[in-house]
Amino acid sequence: MRKQIVAGNWKMNNDLSQTKSLIDALKSKTKTSNAEVMVAPTFTNLSHASSVLKNTNVEVIAQNMHFAENGAYTGEISASMLKSIGIETVILGHSERREYFNETDELLAKKVDAALAKGMRVIFCFGEELADRKSGNEETVVGNQIKNALFHLNAASYQNIVLAYEPVWAIGTGETASPEQAQDMHAFIRKTLADKYGDNVADEVSILYGGSVKPANAEEIFSKPDVDGGLIGGAALNADDFFAIVNAF
Ligand code: 13P
Repeated sequence: MRKQIVAGNWKMNNDLSQTKSLIDALKSKTKTSNAEVMVAPTFTNLSHASSVLKNTNVEVIAQNMHFAENGAYTGEISASMLKSIGIETVILGHSERREYFNETDELLAKKVDAALAKGMRVIFCFGEELADRKSGNEETVVGNQIKNALFHLNAASYQNIVLAYEPVWAIGTGETASPEQAQDMHAFIRKTLADKYGDNVADEVSILYGGSVKPANAEEIFSKPDVDGGLIGGAALNADDFFAIVNAF
């Protein structure tokens, strides 16, 4: 059975004191669903968050990492540095990394390899832009993003891969893909995996939806058979909203 996951991507929000407040609020919440819960604070707050949330049902994860083990990469953080503070999961390929930091499929393939080599779990993000959808190219774009960054992996590697479909036009815009649009794309993604690796692999990979998920729309989106959870931005900055989404399963 593939896992249900709700992950909060805090992006470049919350200084240390705001992080402490949000974590305190999260700790006071009750989880009534079976979903695995994760939050991704900024690098500066990871160490604090991971020690305070240790042994709770909220996993602390990272928003990004570099592919190298160490060396002359000013400003970067490696997989082993994350692991040394108890981080076991990393988000890679977010559209904001692709757009503002020029991260390409080729670079992301190297990051994925580096994370998996350290035994980390990867939440791999991808998604089409509005122009792609308007021109009917969304499946081609998404299919290529997956193939270019992930299809060099062997089947066993997918035990540590979670996919996150985030249509760029739905991120932070208040505009959500309809539950049907999400389901159609998730089914396409699963078929893409099945064609390459077989049904057994495809059926076990969790595919999250991200893009303006809120308490008001989470239940309907999560009710779709190929939607296994969500990657939540804005609504994850509020503990009530985030847990309403977690408990929407
Ligand atoms: P919003 O939920 O703010 O649209 O952000 C989604 C996202 O980018 C999560 O990674």
